[in-house]
Amino acid sequence: MDNNRIVMANFLLFLSFFIFTSELLEAQKAPAVYVFGDSLVDVGNNNYLSFSIEKAILPHYGIDFPTKKPAGRFTNGKNAADLIAEKLGLPTSPPYLSLLSKVHNPNKNISFLGGVNFASGGAGIFNASDKGFMQSIPLQKQVDYYSQVHEKLTQQIGASTLEKHLSKSIFIVVIGGNDVFGYFDSEDLQKKNTPQQYADSMASILKVQLQRLYNNGAKKFGIAGLGAIGCCPAYRLKNKTECFSAANDLSAKYNEALQSILKQWKLEKKDMSYSYFDTYAANQDLVHNSTSHGFSNVKDACCGLGELNAQIPCLPISSICSNRQDHVFWDAFHPTEAAARIFVDEMFNGPSKFISPINIEQLLVI
Ligand SMILES: *[C@@H]1O[C@H](CO)[C@@H](O)[C@H](O)[C@H]1NC(C)=O
Ligand SMILES: *[C@@H]1O[C@H](CO)[C@@H](O)[C@H](O)[C@H]1NC(C)=O
Ligand SMILES: *[C@@H]1O[C@H](CO)[C@@H](O)[C@H](O)[C@H]1NC(C)=O
Ligand SMILES: *[C@@H]1O[C@H](CO)[C@@H](O)[C@H](O)[C@H]1NC(C)=O
Repeated sequence: MDNNRIVMANFLLFLSFFIFTSELLEAQKAPAVYVFGDSLVDVGNNNYLSFSIEKAILPHYGIDFPTKKPAGRFTNGKNAADLIAEKLGLPTSPPYLSLLSKVHNPNKNISFLGGVNFASGGAGIFNASDKGFMQSIPLQKQVDYYSQVHEKLTQQIGASTLEKHLSKSIFIVVIGGNDVFGYFDSEDLQKKNTPQQYADSMASILKVQLQRLYNNGAKKFGIAGLGAIGCCPAYRLKNKTECFSAANDLSAKYNEALQSILKQWKLEKKDMSYSYFDTYAANQDLVHNSTSHGFSNVKDACCGLGELNAQIPCLPISSICSNRQDHVFWDAFHPTEAAARIFVDEMFNGPSKFISPINIEQLLVI
């Protein structure tokens, strides 16, 4: 009798534990990821831009990708967009432009419910980087495309089902680096704006686009600040292989402005949640604690030619490092998959010095 009770109690305990965990697991799932940004998260949109020369279509890009071929990612293997999807147990959200031909084909019924990636190599918060052979999809246009997707989905599944779906989905935004490059490329911009003014206006324009996403159903955001851009191999060439301070200062100013805008926004919109990734802090940690993260080279591009492998871009003729695991940088501008993987791990369950006010795992269960 007693034994039976104990067995029964254990069984109930087991059952409630099981129900609890499976509910928890269910709650942790996001149905989809919608991605906005630049080459750090582009998974092939630029391959569809007719004028752009910023395409990851030549060897040695993709050398460590599952297909071992150039895959529209500006790195050796998977990029942050792939790795975020991997963490969520979802397939990588497809590039928006790869879906367009299907959208306009009445015989094809395509769904955007599994997530879409709008990111474009070279894209900025400002339109300025979208010029001639540097063609890209600037942030405003990415959000315009999203609005079209939102409209289409509303027709397909109705406003209230869509609202529910989107409120559980994750919206990733990784952008701003090209605006920093744009500032230092333009004497005119530097004359007209102090770094502080420029950083403030980057953050406030970004806020306008975030608000448009929110108005169209986005409620959970993963937003990345800027890394120490002055320490990328291309900029190290400006300062005898040391970091270019002015670019780091501008990145830091932008990160400050962005964080204060996000805090204010959260006070206004109680049903909005975000995780802010301090790319700068994570970046500094990688560089200063490189060996504990498994890196032995934090300065050189893996693929390229000349000083720091950064004087000539990563082209088929360029040399390539044999160990992509121990390099932080793949080319003169972009991290290796190994570095991106550490960043994405920190986004999901990192401490608040890297991801705040909550990490992505916490964002998922809200
Ligand atoms: C940026 O480009 C969009 C078109 O994608 C245009 O509607 C908008 O006015 C431009 N913004 C600025 C500030 O020039
Ligand atoms: C297209 O997809 C919608 C939503 O999933 C569905 O309701 C509709 O029946 C589909 N139409 C066709 C022609 O398959
Ligand atoms: C070059 O690097 C040194 C050492 O980090 C730094 O103090 C200096 O400000 C840098 N100069 C420029 C122009 O970035
Ligand atoms: C390096 O790691 C130590 C121990 O985890 C940490 O206290 C320190 O802040 C790290 N350095 C940087 C620059 O993040």
